[in-house]
Amino acid sequence: MSWPNKRHLLCALGTVTTMLGGAGGALADGEPTALLDRYRCMFCHTVDTPFRAPSFREIAAHYHRVPDASAMLEGKLRLGGRTHWGDMPMPSAAERGAGALSREDAHVLVQWVLRQ
Ligand code: HEC
Repeated sequence: MSWPNKRHLLCALGTVTTMLGGAGGALADGEPTALLDRYRCMFCHTVDTPFRAPSFREIAAHYHRVPDASAMLEGKLRLGGRTHWGDMPMPSAAERGAGALSREDAHVLVQWVLRQ
C-alpha cells in the first residue's frame, strides 16, 4: 500500500514548487508545506525561533538520540499528551481545529520535524 503515500508526496512537492515560485523561496525544498499549512503548525511553531511553542529545530535536537521518539510524537500530534517543554500542552489535532490528523500525515510531519 505505498500508492496513497506516493500520491501524497507528489502533492506536497507540487505545493512546494508553487510556493518557491511565489513566496521568494522562504521554505526549503522537500518540506511538507501542504500539511504544515493545512494543519496550521506554523500558527504556533517556527523552524528556528521559539514562539508560542518550541522551534522545530529545538525539538529535533532534543529528540535526536531518543530511539522511539517518532512513534511517541506521532501519537502526541494526533491525540495530544503530557507536556515535555513547559506548562502549555500542545492541543490535540481535533482541538487545534484543523480536523483529525491521519497516521500517514502525522508520520510525514514528524519525520520532517526531526530532520530540522
Ligand atoms: C496551538 C499551538 C500549536 C499548534 C497549532 C501546533 N503546536 Fe506543536 N506544540 C505546541 C506546544 C505548546 C508544544 C510544547 C508542548 C510540550 O510541552 O510538550 C508543542 C510541541 C510540539 C512537538 C514536540 C512534542 C513533544 O512531546 O516534545 C512537536 C513534534 C510539534 N509540536 C509538532 C507540531 C506540528 C507538526 C504541528 C502541526 C500539525 C503543530 N505542532 C501544531 C503548540 C502547537
